[in-house]
Amino acid sequence: MRLGIVGSGMIVNDVLPILKELDIEIVGISGTERSKQKLIELKEIFSIEKVFTDYENMLESQEIDTVYIGIPNHLHYEYSKKALLFGKNVICEKPFTLNMDQLIEIKELAEEKNLILIEAITNQYLKNYEYIKSNLKRIGDIKIIECNYSQYSSRYDAFKKGIILPAFDPQKGGGALMDINIYNIHFVVGLLGRPNRVEYVANIDNEIDTSGILIMEYETTKVVCIGAKDSTSEIRTTVQGEKGSFVVNGATNSIPSVLENILGDRKVFNINEHEHRMYSEFKEFKRIIDEKDLKSAKDRMNHSLLVMEIVDKARMI
Ligand SMILES: NC(=O)c1ccc[n+]([C@@H]2O[C@H](COP(=O)([O-])OP(=O)(O)OC[C@H]3O[C@@H](n4cnc5c(N)ncnc54)[C@H](OP(=O)(O)O)[C@@H]3O)[C@@H](O)[C@H]2O)c1
Repeated sequence: MRLGIVGSGMIVNDVLPILKELDIEIVGISGTERSKQKLIELKEIFSIEKVFTDYENMLESQEIDTVYIGIPNHLHYEYSKKALLFGKNVICEKPFTLNMDQLIEIKELAEEKNLILIEAITNQYLKNYEYIKSNLKRIGDIKIIECNYSQYSSRYDAFKKGIILPAFDPQKGGGALMDINIYNIHFVVGLLGRPNRVEYVANIDNEIDTSGILIMEYETTKVVCIGAKDSTSEIRTTVQGEKGSFVVNGATNSIPSVLENILGDRKVFNINEHEHRMYSEFKEFKRIIDEKDLKSAKDRMNHSLLVMEIVDKARMI
């Protein structure tokens, strides 16, 4: 995988050391003219070959085979589409797109061009999550799942002063559902698949959900996903079945440790392969792209489509 990165904000700064650790070749980094200095600094620190302030110039580079999109949500569709049209594989940050129509369009474009298009959603690749998934039957019939990812956002202070950053901008795919609750949805869908019914109730301020509760109803399991950017709480997820439970102590984007309790037999463990939540996903993206593993990419896409279906339904309410 020979990577071109788009963006120089929080997530890009977070992932760069991991890309270096995984020996992923970073050919270029691109952004706006206003970020030029930041891009040059990142180039120096992380030995990136080239800086681009014109996205198409980066896409024209024959040395890049894959683009990682780490920019605000409303740009994911446009930037992914353009990269695919230039013949590049795409790794796109969550949420994949703003709605199902956009996702289907770029999915079909990727298929037509025989390219990999994949969502960067950390939890699906973590060993702690894989453990819960493959040991689910051991806790018996699952009755209730409760995910609470509530984290007061530093950008909420600005929001209250009337400064609307993309994370709180309804036009830019902001809000608690799209930003923070999305991890909870991925967590649940990876375990249970498509729900029969979806309902979203939210605290709306200035047309944006600053926090909200998503209810998902399955045949014999009831799920509540809480996502908040306007308040804080213990961040925890519980999966409870007739014979026991799994408790994730921490956020559903990093799943830092798990308490397993099966018929009173308790153990706490952490088998994630790296302390950084993005390590496992990028290790797998590199494998999928280097081996052109279209089958795995398709499975991942089917999962992302299910999540987007839920997001669409929740936002319609
Ligand atoms: N996977 C995770 O754990 C995780 C965590 C946080 C965020 N995310 C996702 O990552 C994405 C970025 O979030 P963030 O927190 O990193 O945002 P951020 O800190 O605000 O950074 C956004 C970046 O996008 C750039 N940008 C804005 N408009 C652009 C344009 N038209 N063309 C090119 N670049 C543009 C910005 O550059 P300028 O300053 O020049 O505008 C900035 O470098 C979001 O989709 C978010 O949901 C994922």
